Amino acid sequence: MRTQVGIVGAGPAGLTLALLLRREAIEAVVLENRTREYVEHRVRAGLLEQNTVDLMHELGVGERLARQGLQHDGIYLRRPGRTLHIPITDLTGRHVTIYAQQEVVRDMSAALLEGGGTIHYEVADVAPHDFDSDRPRITYSVDGNGEELCCDFIAGCDGFHGVCREFVPPGVLTEHEYTYPFGWLGILAQASPATDELIYAWHEHGFALYSMRSPKVSRLYVQVPQDEDLNLWSDDRIWEELQRRLATDDWRVNEGQIIDKGITPMRTFVCEPMQYGNLFLLGDAAHIVPPTGAKGLNLAVNDARLLAAALRRWYQAGSRSGLERFSETALRRVWRAQDFSNYMTQLLHDLGRGPFDRKLQLARLDYLGRSTAAATSLAENYAGLPAQDDF
Ligand code: APR
Ligand code: PHB
Repeated sequence: MRTQVGIVGAGPAGLTLALLLRREAIEAVVLENRTREYVEHRVRAGLLEQNTVDLMHELGVGERLARQGLQHDGIYLRRPGRTLHIPITDLTGRHVTIYAQQEVVRDMSAALLEGGGTIHYEVADVAPHDFDSDRPRITYSVDGNGEELCCDFIAGCDGFHGVCREFVPPGVLTEHEYTYPFGWLGILAQASPATDELIYAWHEHGFALYSMRSPKVSRLYVQVPQDEDLNLWSDDRIWEELQRRLATDDWRVNEGQIIDKGITPMRTFVCEPMQYGNLFLLGDAAHIVPPTGAKGLNLAVNDARLLAAALRRWYQAGSRSGLERFSETALRRVWRAQDFSNYMTQLLHDLGRGPFDRKLQLARLDYLGRSTAAATSLAENYAGLPAQDDF
């Protein structure tokens, strides 16, 4: 089999890239090792920057997002006894939208398949080869039979635990990694959110976040120790801890049936460069941000936007300059998001560094409430700086 761009992974990065390429009449084939059912139901992130929303509309996959997405104009930062509102839209002119990652994946895969695109689900043993030449190949198997996809370029959109990064020769990539000594226990609950906008809470017991998925479903998180055992957290204990960290004298979290429960480690990771020869790494395959800044999904979509623009230049004008500068260009936004996500994480979590550190956090929160400059800086990072095509 032959195509122009072989894409490994049908998550947000791979699907956005495939849709953008289809618009340019560049052929692509997506190889995914899970079932369609699995990738369309996996509970993941849920906050879209304005750039991501705009791109989904441009791609013609924004219809359900426009109907079901919850557009927010700000966030709350809470500490016991005090809640600060950051009016993001007033400060930046931009919105953020709550819309679950699996809904993005569903809309994108439906549009791609209905438009005649190709996604092979449930493929095994995926391996990229010869990407230091102009004849890269991807080998894989279907029901135990070996297959080969010849292409001009390979896009590794296979997430943090994917295979593509592992195939880059030793010594080429520099990996920067830090794992925080805590994680997030996240739940989905059949409960109407008791808040109109997200609440990020600083508390002596640790961080908590009140988010949502719809007018009837809440998404909530509490900071827990690293490698925490989920079995230690009964539903009652989870609600008790959420109330402790989020409730005020006259307001409580709405409780309901818990329909999903899981623990996410808090990791920060960047691999540089995000390319080698004709292999490009996008999204979680190249970088992970702590979820406090809600940037992971948006970065994956931005990487796809940049690579699609570079590929368009190659196929339409024969210019490799965009491809050569892909990593450098993508990494500017990745490091901005790393800085912001780590800032938000360190502002709000118990980092285990003692009372002096906790006092500094409170001083920073206080400053955000007193300085429009400080609040604007947080707001423009949270909403996402405008997209740039600066190859
Ligand atoms: N072969 C084929 N597909 C693979 C392989 C493999 N060896 N390994 C992983 N995959 C698939 C996964 O099953 C998944 O569907 O690659 C896809 C990667 O998708 P994501 O993990 O969603 O990564 P990405 O598209 O970069 O999107 C980043 O995901 O983790 C969240 O918060 C993160 O929102 C961010 C987003
Ligand atoms: C979510 O809704 O899952 C969510 C929202 C904001 C974050 C992280 C996660 O910062």
